[in-house]
Amino acid sequence: MTRFAPLAAVLLAFVVGSAPSQIPPGPPVADSGATKQRELEWWKRAVIYEIYVRSFQDSDGDGVGDVNGITQRLDYLRDLGVDAIWVSPMFPSPQVDFGYDISNYEAVDPQYGSLADFDRLIAEARKRHIGVIIDMVLNHTSDRHPWFVNSARSRTAREHDWYVWSDGKRGPDGAMHPPNNWVSLFGGSAWEWVPAVKQYYYHKFYKQQPDLNWRNPAVEDAMFSAMRFWLDRGVAGFRLDAVPTLFEDPALKDEPVLPGINAQGDANLDHIYTENLPELHATMRRMRSLVSAYPGERVLVGETYLPDTASLDKWYGGANHDELQLPMDMLVGFSNKLSAPHFRSLLAEVYSQIHGSQPLLVFDNHDNQRSWERYGDGFHDAQIARLVAALLLTSKATALLYQGEEIGQRTMVPTRIEDVRDPIGVTGWPKEKGRDGERTPMQWDATNGQAGFSTGAKSWLPVPQNYKTINVQSELKDPESLLNWHRRLIDLRRTNPALRDGTAAMLDEQNPNVLSYLRVAPSGAAVVVVLNMSATPQTVSLDVGGAGLKGIVTETLMSSANAASKTASLHDAKVPPFGVWVAAIE
Ligand code: GLC
Ligand code: MG
Repeated sequence: MTRFAPLAAVLLAFVVGSAPSQIPPGPPVADSGATKQRELEWWKRAVIYEIYVRSFQDSDGDGVGDVNGITQRLDYLRDLGVDAIWVSPMFPSPQVDFGYDISNYEAVDPQYGSLADFDRLIAEARKRHIGVIIDMVLNHTSDRHPWFVNSARSRTAREHDWYVWSDGKRGPDGAMHPPNNWVSLFGGSAWEWVPAVKQYYYHKFYKQQPDLNWRNPAVEDAMFSAMRFWLDRGVAGFRLDAVPTLFEDPALKDEPVLPGINAQGDANLDHIYTENLPELHATMRRMRSLVSAYPGERVLVGETYLPDTASLDKWYGGANHDELQLPMDMLVGFSNKLSAPHFRSLLAEVYSQIHGSQPLLVFDNHDNQRSWERYGDGFHDAQIARLVAALLLTSKATALLYQGEEIGQRTMVPTRIEDVRDPIGVTGWPKEKGRDGERTPMQWDATNGQAGFSTGAKSWLPVPQNYKTINVQSELKDPESLLNWHRRLIDLRRTNPALRDGTAAMLDEQNPNVLSYLRVAPSGAAVVVVLNMSATPQTVSLDVGGAGLKGIVTETLMSSANAASKTASLHDAKVPPFGVWVAAIE
């Protein structure tokens, strides 16, 4: 499959940056200003694909995915139509949180390969016009990182103040207690006592993940220098892990207690002193300046679970657009409610209330039950997966896919505590079974018992038995597969000007069952998208006169396999249960 027109290929060659020894990317070749701008803003039209490195492809038979495994699969990603990959943390790590506990920010864990392997990944990806985005864990390090080891050794150590320490409170019993009621998201108090310094340190996540003290400028210097290390090697940007948690309130006040207890058995707290502190934004602006100094539009993607769109807008820098280019909108993809009015209002909001910034939508990642189960009704799951893909890929947003989503991998929740690998599943069992279910190996083919993921006898998490039918190889051969549905949608999104660069406007806004919208390109080319979010057949009548269009259907671009008839009228468009209809109109 050819992915780009020749000109676009030349332009896109500039976007993924340069290895230190190469000439930095220059401005695109002669072109009109407007087109040039669009080509430069590659991340606005991108499909970004999340790779959970442990589970994507094992190249050496040890049952754990690795960097060379990713390189081996780049052709698959190119053919799928991926513009950038986000690689989960591949840095040296004790692997308590499977890489989200980093002990060295400027190397690759030997389990995953070497720095040379990673350089080769970047170079091979660039040849296929794929950028490599890496995962920066800025809130915390591993407790084995030399910075923390020193920090915990003595109060006078250079790095002591790099972490969040407190003397604690002496209780009426005379014993020392944590300074406040803050809890770890992974269960229990967020404070851990260290006898050597007679202080508690704060950890939002596991106790093996001590929070850095971002109020100390030395921390920012150290992290920015690690980011430069990777920018110099040519990464296309960073996914900023848990970024709303960088700062804590220095007064260490108790957080307000909300009703109920969470899955870990702790009180629910309103995280007003540990998340989304206003101080974050000055740091984000400096970080944006750091990446902007590099050629090729390196991007900052944020893991931003936020309560509302107004909060999301702040992560872009509001009207100034000077913070993250792509903080993730988690409101749409994780609303877990397949409802036309619900999606209509969430989409309309993110399209209109972020000062013209570019939304980033995501329905799946390595931390949540897969969208297959979250949106499926147990009956129409295969059709619903196509509906969700169509919503994501015909939206005006940049799209994020998670490995396996495109083939319909299922969530495989462990059934026995002894099988659980994710520590939160161990501490939270049986209420919280952890995140292993969405992290099982990528299902490539049916050539061996590991679904082609590994040649070893065992993989670090078991391969679901459904791999014999749900796998890349067999789905590539089936024109009606979910994988080919994704490939067609991505191709359409790239080649159709309305879907690529067009505006978006909601249609038929009172319809309780069907979500319909119009995309119009700068040239006037228009597309309608009709998504039936109900279990019954629906007929819609769409009025596009207000948009200055005649309302004539010129071509059905995508339609569900189970569509009774390929509809050809905007006034009488029939869509089957959970059906999809995408059409070019005049
Ligand atoms: C993010 C990651 C998650 C990790 C946590 C702590 O939420 O996606 O996997 O456990 O941060 O780093
Ligand atoms: Mg923090």
